[in-house]
Amino acid sequence: MLSHRKNGTQTSTFGTPGRISHDSSKFYGGKLYEGLNNGKTVEYIENPIDQQNINKVFCKSSEAMSELPDNSVHLMVTSPPYNVGKVYDDNLSLQEYRNLLKRVFKETHRVLVPGGRACINIANLGRKPYLPLHSYIIEDMNDIGFLMRGEILWDKGSSASPSTAWGSYLKANNPVLRDVHEYILVYCKDTFTHSNPHNRQSTISKEEFLEFTKSVWRFPAERATKVGHPAPFSVELPYRLIQLYTFEDEVVLDPFAGSGSTCIAAVKTNRRYVAYDIDKKYCNLAEQRINQFLQERITLFK
Ligand SMILES: C[S@@+](CC[C@H](N)C(=O)[O-])C[C@H]1O[C@@H](n2cnc3c(N)ncnc32)[C@H](O)[C@@H]1O
Repeated sequence: MLSHRKNGTQTSTFGTPGRISHDSSKFYGGKLYEGLNNGKTVEYIENPIDQQNINKVFCKSSEAMSELPDNSVHLMVTSPPYNVGKVYDDNLSLQEYRNLLKRVFKETHRVLVPGGRACINIANLGRKPYLPLHSYIIEDMNDIGFLMRGEILWDKGSSASPSTAWGSYLKANNPVLRDVHEYILVYCKDTFTHSNPHNRQSTISKEEFLEFTKSVWRFPAERATKVGHPAPFSVELPYRLIQLYTFEDEVVLDPFAGSGSTCIAAVKTNRRYVAYDIDKKYCNLAEQRINQFLQERITLFK
């Protein structure tokens, strides 16, 4: 039942189907939230990035992003290496792998402005047993001190790999689930609201806002062979996150840039980017794709 106070709704025993100036203090004041990190009041700081380090792909490990000052990036969007023997993967133990990601996400925490967001696209692995990488990353991001905002299920539908690894076909002996989804984990630093003291513009349309705030996204995966990278995400993924979480001209970081899809989405939306990849081949590919995108845009507007 919708519980109406004089000026709006509040948390009620049977939930609230609608929210109008909703007062959720009863919910957050309950024992469920006791002792949890629920953000703090922080001063907004935004340090400038040296002009020579903006709109750049750095060919080095993102474990140390010395080109970026503290509190200088507004959004991180990335999909980490999978450590499953792709050409760029080292053969790390699960703990070594988690430690690598933790070092990079700690650096990300340092460079994000207060209220800045971090979005991690990740798929789970294996079946014997199933490795819920997304749940390990959730633990590690909490340890670093990030505030979790939600998770998006990316339904790849018919574009997911057409695997027939369903185990015992038509028999209950050992049927195996075939994942047609990936996750996008959404975090913020220190506080939930991203201040906008420079009065920059949001560029998201009403239709996009209504669609992108849903927790299930449906759009096709990118074809590795088309892009020339073993595991690219489609530009649509960073595009949605940039539109939803940043203002125009802000800085978007991808610490595992691969073929540069995040950078292309940043250029497309009039944001600035900084990207890192450890592999020279992919740094070159990213630069080539960004230049091609810029060239096509110039031709389009001629
Ligand atoms: C899953 S791919 C990213 C794909 C990217 N989202 C795209 O659309 O092309 C992960 C990338 O991380 C890079 N990588 C692995 N370890 C790294 C590190 N320590 N620092 C920076 N990049 C790294 C790999 O070379 C690989 O290109």
